[in-house]
Amino acid sequence: MDFDALFAKELDALRRDGNYRIFAELEREAGAFPRATSHDADAPDQVTVWCSNDYLGMGQHADVIAAMCDTARACGTGAGGTRNISGNTHQHALLEAELADLHRKDAALLFTSGYVSNWAALSTLGAKLPDAVILSDEKNHASMIEGIRHSKADKVIWRHNDPEDLDRKLAACPSNATKIVAFESVYSMDGDICPMDEIVEVAEKHGAMTYLDEVHAVGMYGPRGGGVSERLGLQDRITLIEGTLGKAYGVVGGYIAGSAALCDFIRSFASGFIFTTALPPAVAAAARTSIAHLKESDAERHRQRGQVAKLRARLDALGIPHLHNDSHIIPVMIKDPVKCRQIADILMNDFGIYVQPINYPTVPKGTERLRFTPGPLHSDEDIEYLVQALSTLWKRCALAHAVA
Ligand SMILES: Cc1ncc(COP(=O)(O)O)c(C=O)c1O
Repeated sequence: MDFDALFAKELDALRRDGNYRIFAELEREAGAFPRATSHDADAPDQVTVWCSNDYLGMGQHADVIAAMCDTARACGTGAGGTRNISGNTHQHALLEAELADLHRKDAALLFTSGYVSNWAALSTLGAKLPDAVILSDEKNHASMIEGIRHSKADKVIWRHNDPEDLDRKLAACPSNATKIVAFESVYSMDGDICPMDEIVEVAEKHGAMTYLDEVHAVGMYGPRGGGVSERLGLQDRITLIEGTLGKAYGVVGGYIAGSAALCDFIRSFASGFIFTTALPPAVAAAARTSIAHLKESDAERHRQRGQVAKLRARLDALGIPHLHNDSHIIPVMIKDPVKCRQIADILMNDFGIYVQPINYPTVPKGTERLRFTPGPLHSDEDIEYLVQALSTLWKRCALAHAVA
């Protein structure tokens, strides 16, 4: 059997559709972010990154780097085991306490990534709770969808950000069901923010548990970076808050926060928590430093909001179509996978601007886009250079100047 021929056939189909993924090979430069060295033959040696989820540049913050290096020197590199078998360090306990405090919850539980935390928590809740029904927003992230699927619980999809549809679907659940409403605060591809107060209202009316993914909001929203739930004062009314340490906090890892009983339950039954090596203590120390910093400092968020507003205003002035939303994410719609790739290639190779094309299956076919995430470290000159490059390309490609 020629296995490689089977693989190649599938990959050819991806290429034909324009959906084959090509990674940019970068070397981030601590102290110079958003600049990075490019190792791609066709690109300039130095590029400006415009699509990072290190939204606030915390991955190069001096205190965060120092915490990681100092802890690695003091404790070594890896944790050396699962949390149960020798890998449970003081740094993990400190970080979980920091996270519980961030969300004003009794407890928190760490995972190796945000993906794993969603997968493990939802699959455990769905599998172990009696007669569980998980009501999932139709635009939920792949990690939630996979967790729900793995749980084998009954699943009901409700229309995106539509509390009335959720209300109808909750009302139709069997009376004995344990109902879990799973949703996100900031949806990362369109950048829209959910109507959280209405969703919580509806869930409470039906006695449902709320499972909130704040991956794109932690560090970013709320006076202490506790996410949209903190900004709206809803933390107490959400059963479980899930987040990442890999985006605004600039490190890596995922977590859930909730009641002590809930975290103990997931700790005790989730295979994605139990059977894997714990995060390195140095990673835990760096993440805790980043969280502690963003609890106290609003400067990064403030400057970032300013740069986001400036980029939006300049795109509007030049007639470059982008989705309007209330978040920090600026999607510029291209709506064609091949053009999206071509524009990204020209930006990278001719202008030293790195923005990854976002194609299917990350977004539905026909909604391909460039997703810009301006940060506090992008200068006004960076923004002007970017919009002038886009404007040149827009004229060259004669793309429609309207968002459908
Ligand atoms: C909504 C959402 N949840 C979870 C994750 C996974 O988080 P992590 O990157 O930490 O695995 C992502 C990743 O992009 C995401 O967009």
